[in-house]
Amino acid sequence: MTPDIDELLGRMSRRDKLDQLQIVWKQDLGEAAALARRGIGALFWPGNAADTNELQRVARGESPHRIPLLIGLDVVHGQRTTFPIPLAQAASFDPEIARRDAEVSAAEARGAGVTWTFSPMIDVSRDPRWGRVAEGFGEDPLVTARFGAAKVHGYQGDDLAAPTSIAATAKHFVGYGAAEGGRDYNTVDMSEQRLRNAYLPPFQAAVEAGAASVMAAFNTLSGVPMHANRRLLRDVLKDEWGFGGVVVGDAEGVVELARHGVAASPSDAIALALRAGVDIEMGGHVLGDDGEPFADADAVDDAVLDEAVRRVLRLKAALGLFEDPFVDAAAEPLAPTADTRAAARTAAERGAVLLSNGGDLLPLAAGTRRILLAGPYATSPDHLGAWVQHFAERAGTLEDAVRAEFPDADVTVLPGAGFTGADPALQQQVVEALPGHDVVVLALGEPSDLSGEAASRSDLRLPGDQEALVHAVADAGVPFVVVLENGRPLDLSGWFGRATAVLEAWHGGLEAPTAIARLLSGAASPGGRLPMAFPRSVGQVPEYDAHERTGRPATIGAQGPLSMTDWQLAGPGNVAEHFTSKYLDLDLGPLLPFGHGLSTTRFELTDLRIETPEIAAAEVLAGARIGVSLTVTNTGERDGDDVLLLFVRDEVASIAPAVRRLAGFERVTLPAGTSRTIRFELDRGSLGFWTNDPAGEHVVEPGAFTVSVSDGTTTLATGLTAR
Ligand code: NOJ
Repeated sequence: MTPDIDELLGRMSRRDKLDQLQIVWKQDLGEAAALARRGIGALFWPGNAADTNELQRVARGESPHRIPLLIGLDVVHGQRTTFPIPLAQAASFDPEIARRDAEVSAAEARGAGVTWTFSPMIDVSRDPRWGRVAEGFGEDPLVTARFGAAKVHGYQGDDLAAPTSIAATAKHFVGYGAAEGGRDYNTVDMSEQRLRNAYLPPFQAAVEAGAASVMAAFNTLSGVPMHANRRLLRDVLKDEWGFGGVVVGDAEGVVELARHGVAASPSDAIALALRAGVDIEMGGHVLGDDGEPFADADAVDDAVLDEAVRRVLRLKAALGLFEDPFVDAAAEPLAPTADTRAAARTAAERGAVLLSNGGDLLPLAAGTRRILLAGPYATSPDHLGAWVQHFAERAGTLEDAVRAEFPDADVTVLPGAGFTGADPALQQQVVEALPGHDVVVLALGEPSDLSGEAASRSDLRLPGDQEALVHAVADAGVPFVVVLENGRPLDLSGWFGRATAVLEAWHGGLEAPTAIARLLSGAASPGGRLPMAFPRSVGQVPEYDAHERTGRPATIGAQGPLSMTDWQLAGPGNVAEHFTSKYLDLDLGPLLPFGHGLSTTRFELTDLRIETPEIAAAEVLAGARIGVSLTVTNTGERDGDDVLLLFVRDEVASIAPAVRRLAGFERVTLPAGTSRTIRFELDRGSLGFWTNDPAGEHVVEPGAFTVSVSDGTTTLATGLTAR
């Protein structure tokens, strides 16, 4: 029976309450059980259902107040069935992919006793040096918000108490993706308008989707570490947004306040964090292993303490843990099923992005008989990506998948290059083997451990001697496909134009090899788009679509022969415009922008219509919506998917607006020769913006807007006036 929470609180000592406010990881079951007996609030998952049941039995049967445990685990893109990394999921521009991933993850995890996950990561990520871009949904606030909300729905279902639901955690609140230099855990300093317009919206969407918890971020924000950021944790998250769930600190993030230099000691840090609005500390420093409170934790007000404990107990009640904290250990899901594999494969196929396709090389011709497959990803089983469970089902190899997908072909497999070091003899072998093959597929990329937490890179090129392999094959003059598996946007500029076709497959999860083989054969059709720009050079990052307008925009891209002869640069035509915002040695913009992605068929966009070309700003502010529609036709010979991106450009505003902002997106599947009319709606969020007022002011200003829809290849635009 779920107890009356206030009555239970009334019976708890201060120490009992403090014990509810921490989560600890103990490898040793006996040590974990001792903490459960004492009355700790939460433990990390001990590794299987039987041990979890034992810990819950101790908590329910032997702890002072019989309070069940929260059992936490990072289930980021899979428990047993690993889906593509979240960045790859975002590339699908289909939030259903993320919802399904979370639904499968939740069923597998809850069936093993996990009740609480630290996912989704919804940090807007505009700097590919940061390894954690793999865990999020890319550079755009709207894409991140929609995918984050979809994950929350997938994990939590309709009822947290269901045997297939777990509590989601929106993380990392907030600004973590903007770490200076893309260096993990680094400082963040940003204006109120940027915070409100770009970094907070995904969190607000997650809260609106019902996220049970929110995790504080490791970074400082404008000088105030997030674990001590009362204004954002209490005033914005809990008060302004009405978030009623649990705020959890990141691992050791509370005691690190002392390292940040805003607390004199770890114990001081605990009091500071609890007062600021952190409810659960991750690491076990509120009460030590000896059960003694850290001195300053004892100094926290009763009201603050009670509020935090109430939130924790409410979550346990919502999860149904007071009623029944146990799972059927005999039914613990230990392996993927045909269904979960199919879902993971669909996700990998939909997240793949066709970056180039010279001579329509893809899909490979039906009669392809002799395939030369080379590169480190030809035989590597490393497809799962960052943040995977060490016990997750392992993926197979691309070699095996290609052989299975092309049963009548001879497939030659050679290493060609490595992720580390350089061995020209490997490239030579490939060059010598080229004659007699119909097609060459180079499987290249970045190993999984080069992305994820604490995996920032200052060089975004393919590691090892992989670029040398591309050049060696290109020099031989044969058409070839490069398949990329990686956890972040890479710098491809050293070779991109030399490959005939490039397919971005990311770290595609358990079913990546099969998905890639099917994308090569045409059994699946690539329709993803980049959720984050690929830079020309690491020197230009961050380089993202919705950037603010400068007073000196550079406009001339490199076109044909270089115009400047006195610059000893391989550089761009834009240097002719001297006093403009650019690099002297780099062409304008990213190599591949946000939204880039081709198809193996052709689409035509027509009939862009705006239903209310003129409307009062006050009406929009009050909730009016403006319909925008267009028709998309598959004019090619193959079935395929198009992704439509709706953008709004505010022509003049009281703070410098972005060049354009994404206001909607939709992925459509269209059989060859068919059309569909798509309708979007613009609202206050699309036309308005947050000012720099720290109290939070969202305005829609009268003036002209340009509304455009693009599928990455074609763009249609029209005007809108707000009176
Ligand atoms: C640190 C990471 O920043 C966070 O995302 C994760 O949830 C915790 N460790 C727990 O594993």
